[in-house]
Amino acid sequence: MKIEDLFSVRGKVALVTGGSRGLGEMIARAYVENGAKVYITARRADACDALAKELSILGACVSIPADLSRMDEIDRLSAELRKREKSLDILVNNAGASWGARFEEFPESGWDKVMNLNVKSVFFLTQRLLDLLQAAASEDAWSRVINIGSIEGIRTSHQEAYSYAASKAGVNHLTRIMAKFLAPQRIAVNAIAPGYFPSKMTAAMEEENTQAVIDGAPMKRMGRPEDIAGIALYLASKASGFVCGAVIPVDGGLATTA
Ligand SMILES: NC(=O)c1ccc[n+]([C@@H]2O[C@H](COP(=O)([O-])OP(=O)(O)OC[C@H]3O[C@@H](n4cnc5c(N)ncnc54)[C@H](OP(=O)(O)O)[C@@H]3O)[C@@H](O)[C@H]2O)c1
Repeated sequence: MKIEDLFSVRGKVALVTGGSRGLGEMIARAYVENGAKVYITARRADACDALAKELSILGACVSIPADLSRMDEIDRLSAELRKREKSLDILVNNAGASWGARFEEFPESGWDKVMNLNVKSVFFLTQRLLDLLQAAASEDAWSRVINIGSIEGIRTSHQEAYSYAASKAGVNHLTRIMAKFLAPQRIAVNAIAPGYFPSKMTAAMEEENTQAVIDGAPMKRMGRPEDIAGIALYLASKASGFVCGAVIPVDGGLATTA
């Protein structure tokens, strides 16, 4: 099979949560550039709409703003999507938030915000879109759910991000159990566990910590858009047809070798 076919997402319908910036934007852009019709969602409608407008020059991109930390908003997003589409080939559960505080001062709100978005919304958005994912699935082309976990859920780091690390370990394992129970419906669930990529989330990291991360990674750099685009295209295409329940670090070797 030719590489263009093996890695193709042409004609597929995708939803990328947190698609207005950062890793979500990188993934949405890669799908749009390669011929998928991509829906993006995030809380800030202006940012979401502006990116959809920009990406629409390259292909098909539609903005449906929503706050996924709320169940009513998950339901509204699901309803909005099904007004427009009868099936969904690719769901990327990327929206996420972090919270850092010293152990003694860590607030309850820093747990609820992070767990609701990073873990609970991944489960319930997928649940609410199950029929659309089922409708897209065939023996030849399974539907795909791609969860964005983190290497923070694999190893411990210098950051006191207690709820975040626990949430990402949760996402990594939720991926495995969802993979097991959705496989009979021809829906392949996998996760990407990114290392450090420049984004609004990592911009909050102090400069010396950023340098420590770069120094600590065998590849001695942060991630680039093509690094996340490559794995997102792979997990959405025929190329990963026999991959199920995998949590794939994309981190320059940081989690596995440092
Ligand atoms: N950057 C990294 O190095 C790195 C490493 C490992 C894992 N990750 C993971 O990758 C994902 C994306 O992170 P990022 O670095 O790209 O962060 P980011 O730049 O802060 O982007 C987060 C995205 O999620 C959206 N979002 C936040 N809260 C939301 C909510 N309640 N409902 C819907 N959308 C919401 C944001 O838009 P609004 O604010 O407008 O809602 C934005 O589009 C996260 O799951 C993160 O944990 C990132």
